[in-house]
Amino acid sequence: MATPSSVEQRYRDLTPGSASIGPRAERVMPAGDTRAAGYHLPYPLTLTHGRGAQVWDVDGRCYWDLAGNYTALVHGHAYPPIVEAATAAILGGTAWPARNPGQIDLAELLVDRVRSIEHIRFCNSGTEAGMLAAVVARVATGRPDILMARFGYHGSHELFEHGSFDGRLAVPGNDHTLLAEYGNAESFEKVLDEHGHRVAAVFLEPVMGAGGVVTAPPEFFQRVQAAARRAGALFVIDEVIAFRLGVGGAQEALGVEPDLTMLGKLIGGGFPVGALGGRADVMSWLDPRRSRIFHSGTFNGNPVTMAAGAASVRHLSAEQIARLDALGGRLADHLAASARNLGLPFSARRVGSLLNVYFLPTAPPANLLRDDHQLMRAFHLAGMNHGLYFASRGMLVVSTVMDEASIDDIAERAAEAMADVVAEAARRS
Ligand SMILES: Cc1ncc(COP(=O)(O)O)c(C=O)c1O
Repeated sequence: MATPSSVEQRYRDLTPGSASIGPRAERVMPAGDTRAAGYHLPYPLTLTHGRGAQVWDVDGRCYWDLAGNYTALVHGHAYPPIVEAATAAILGGTAWPARNPGQIDLAELLVDRVRSIEHIRFCNSGTEAGMLAAVVARVATGRPDILMARFGYHGSHELFEHGSFDGRLAVPGNDHTLLAEYGNAESFEKVLDEHGHRVAAVFLEPVMGAGGVVTAPPEFFQRVQAAARRAGALFVIDEVIAFRLGVGGAQEALGVEPDLTMLGKLIGGGFPVGALGGRADVMSWLDPRRSRIFHSGTFNGNPVTMAAGAASVRHLSAEQIARLDALGGRLADHLAASARNLGLPFSARRVGSLLNVYFLPTAPPANLLRDDHQLMRAFHLAGMNHGLYFASRGMLVVSTVMDEASIDDIAERAAEAMADVVAEAARRS
């Protein structure tokens, strides 16, 4: 058996509680977990609670939370206005099949903010929002296929998995997903020229989150939208992550008018949520008075999520978004400076409050194409050793409950983690 590295040994020494709970979890869940994204070797932490910008593990250790539940917790944990709104809702009962006023409230907020959204439907995850978008598009156009970016991510449904993992994990039997290159309008135009008659919808993220915080200029989105329109396909923008980047979502800066928009994460205030919004005529495919699409869901629009989501959205003002952008920039600058001081190869891609780091001189076009796995893995574990919790793929996100002092403390810890990475690399060579 390989001897654990010193960074890994330190991780094991600091987190015995997470290690010892593993076998119990593995008896009842594959890999002892219920979600692939948070899994990493040698074992993931077991967290017990979060407050503000921090989380705690079963050993009582505290971490700055730079995962924010993969961007959903834009206001951190137990944000008082959300706790208040959700608690009041819980006391009134948690779900029933009839409309509740909270749905109208959150729907109005989102319709007011996002110019392309006239009507909206709620569901329980971003994955469901993508599935629903595909159903609407297929029924509206009578066509079977969807087109998405290679390395894009629109949730863990087989239709989109093919693109997310470049076909590597594609579920057998799914031959309805076409791929084109993100940022390359010609590539989308070519696929649509050749296969447009089969394409029901084109899906794009304003920023590829899982792909590695990759974005493209507005002209790219405008050209793809025009090509989709020419082909008679719907144009779908996935704002599940990107909605935090603008009051009207990231699309407001792109000069596009998507037919449909997928939402999720922050619009649930920390509770499970997804939503599909869009032009009223397209969304009317979900109106049971005229359509045979049966869109339902036991917990769709439940009052707790709606109340928490409305508080989350209301508190994400233009000023807060600008603050998040500045904090993200401050963090990126600190990290680059520390890496430079240590002579570590480093690059980062940042869009507002979203950041992805690479221990490479230049960031690769997508996360799956990176080859800095050893350094990234060491930084991820070393980060936890120094009290930082972030996605193992190197995505770090800031939240409104952080301030400049928090960022400086995070940066100091990150510098210590990078020093450990350098020491480890020296030990190996
Ligand atoms: C861009 C994008 N779309 C869709 C999803 C799926 O959302 P959920 O995890 O809520 O199913 C995600 C999740 O990370 C996402 O990043």
